[in-house]
Amino acid sequence: MKDIRFDGRVAVITGAGGGLGKTYALTLAARGARVVVNDLGGGKDGTGAGTSMADQTVKQIVEAGGEAVANYDSVATPEGGEGIVQAALDHFGGVDIVINNAGILRDKTFAKLEPADLESVLDVHLKGGFYVSQPAFRAMKDKGYGRFIFTASAAGVLGNFGQTNYGAAKMGLVGLSNVLALEGAKYNIRSNVIAPIARTRLTEQLLGPMAVALDPECVTPLVVYLVSEQCELTHQILSVGGGRFARMFVGLTPGWFAGKGAKPAPEEVRDHMDQIRDPQGYIIPDGIADEMKIMLQQLQG
Ligand code: NAI
Repeated sequence: MKDIRFDGRVAVITGAGGGLGKTYALTLAARGARVVVNDLGGGKDGTGAGTSMADQTVKQIVEAGGEAVANYDSVATPEGGEGIVQAALDHFGGVDIVINNAGILRDKTFAKLEPADLESVLDVHLKGGFYVSQPAFRAMKDKGYGRFIFTASAAGVLGNFGQTNYGAAKMGLVGLSNVLALEGAKYNIRSNVIAPIARTRLTEQLLGPMAVALDPECVTPLVVYLVSEQCELTHQILSVGGGRFARMFVGLTPGWFAGKGAKPAPEEVRDHMDQIRDPQGYIIPDGIADEMKIMLQQLQG
């Protein structure tokens, strides 16, 4: 198979001033993409702003012979999202790839979580995914091509102590991507989720001795493949970090069918709980239709 290239393609990468996003920007540009390097340039808790982070990534791309433009809008507002995509349209005439990567942390245990910690984290991660992706989706739909990545986290898909706000926002992105994958299918628009683990400013104090093996560059190859023309995958969640690549998924067990329209006693549900939960013979639905099909078959006997 041919090498993966991005000549003629335009990529928008949010939060590309540092950490994981910067590695995506450098690699996509080195492989021919024209890149909008978005970064608000603030602190890891979402406070502050500045231009130097995005500028630094652009400088590195240009020095290496690539093409990129900086954008300093926040993903956390509808205007910011529009502005980021407009930068791609204005400078490069289109948008083919969106990597939703910008992120912040406001970790607190649930009992101590303040409304402001919830709002800022939902705004950047979850609403940011909507604000940037919607104008891009409209442009991609017209063109009949698009590749989306949403950055979730094991903290949401699996759960992690002290991260209710972050976990909920990240799992929300799984829902967004799953629906986008279905709505985008007929326009050749693919949407996938990654749950990365890497040593960046967000995690450097959290990873302990594992940190040494967790270069952000270990995540980059998967993301580059997923946003390429060669990748036909959609509706996926992939876990990646430190040299390991794996699939995460939502599965559906065969469960227990109590009978058409049955209303069993709670005790009967209790007594069938092992069967309900038994993963033997599970499926991985590609959408709600797959579950409805099973229900229909059971209801029709
Ligand atoms: P990072 O802090 O180096 O990168 C995040 C970037 O987003 C920063 O450069 C920051 O300035 C930018 N940003 C923050 N708020 C923004 C806003 N409103 N608008 C535009 N840019 C904004 O951290 P890292 O680790 O590279 O994170 C990238 C993504 O990966 C985040 O979504 C994070 O939640 C996610 N992630 C990272 C993990 C890890 O192990 N590093 C684990 C799971 C998820």
